[in-house]
Amino acid sequence: MEVGITGFGQEKMIPHFYKSPDRDFTLLQGDCVDVLRSFDFEFDMIFADPPYFLSNDGISVQSGKVVSVNKGDWDRSRGGEADEAFTREWISEARKKLTPSGTIWISGTYHNIFSVAKILKEQGFKILNVVTWAKTNPPPNLSCRYFTHSSEFVVWARKSDKVPHYFNYELMRELNGGTQMRDVWNLPAIAPWEKSCGKHPTQKPLSLLSRIMLASTRERAWVLDPFSGSATTGIAANLLNRRFLGIEREARFLEMSQKRKIEILNFGTADTFRRKLRLPPLLHAKSDFSLREDFSEDLPF
Ligand SMILES: C[S@@+](CC[C@H](N)C(=O)[O-])C[C@H]1O[C@@H](n2cnc3c(N)ncnc32)[C@H](O)[C@@H]1O
Repeated sequence: MEVGITGFGQEKMIPHFYKSPDRDFTLLQGDCVDVLRSFDFEFDMIFADPPYFLSNDGISVQSGKVVSVNKGDWDRSRGGEADEAFTREWISEARKKLTPSGTIWISGTYHNIFSVAKILKEQGFKILNVVTWAKTNPPPNLSCRYFTHSSEFVVWARKSDKVPHYFNYELMRELNGGTQMRDVWNLPAIAPWEKSCGKHPTQKPLSLLSRIMLASTRERAWVLDPFSGSATTGIAANLLNRRFLGIEREARFLEMSQKRKIEILNFGTADTFRRKLRLPPLLHAKSDFSLREDFSEDLPF
């Protein structure tokens, strides 16, 4: 199926890559700015893991081997001004796709995160937290000339200064052993079982995405990821009974995402993943949400 894009005097078509049989997982192929301009729909939450612009031909260590830090052409810096113009453009399109009470999470390192935070404020977002993901198993620093890089940041912001956002404070406290959860999250990098359908070069762990999802959305919420990669966001969303739209440019990553969704269409596998992630029980029984009656609120394609 194809989705029509208008606005340039003539219609351009965007390939519709995959829609799962349960209709909770849709993938579109294309440049996120073009795709976001092509339809009208408001999401409750957006998670974005955009290019960090750090593919600079340096080296790192992975599983004891020296490897290039290059992730792909999409991650190369085009220079400070061009990188910032791109960040401004996609955040502005993403903002139009949020409900008034919606929130956005954007991940990054020092390469992009300061620019992201500045642009969020420029565009009227209110920053709620900057979560530090402290990696429990980071690769060593080869140069021995500075500290080991062992963290990433995730800025959490709401669309409006005035409209309150959703935060599941009680659940976060419970998951943190009965005390308030802090903004430093100690979580490991992806586990081997998360690579069963292949590995994306910058794949995020399901533990990170499921915590984000639980903190800021209710069951059946609509979640968007404009840089979907291997669709970790979508897999975490569906394991937690949230609905997902992912946008990604590269077919090989979309194929991997589709395989990951097909894997969890099996209830046994989904339950195993939930157990491994120590997720709290869903509020609705599986039988409730396999009899979907809320299709009226479906995506426009
Ligand atoms: C950092 S990765 C996301 C990884 C993802 N969070 C995961 O866990 O697999 C960014 C992804 O965005 C894609 N990408 C880069 N620029 C894009 C654009 N303008 N529109 C859509 N996708 C883009 C890349 O191909 C890459 O897969």
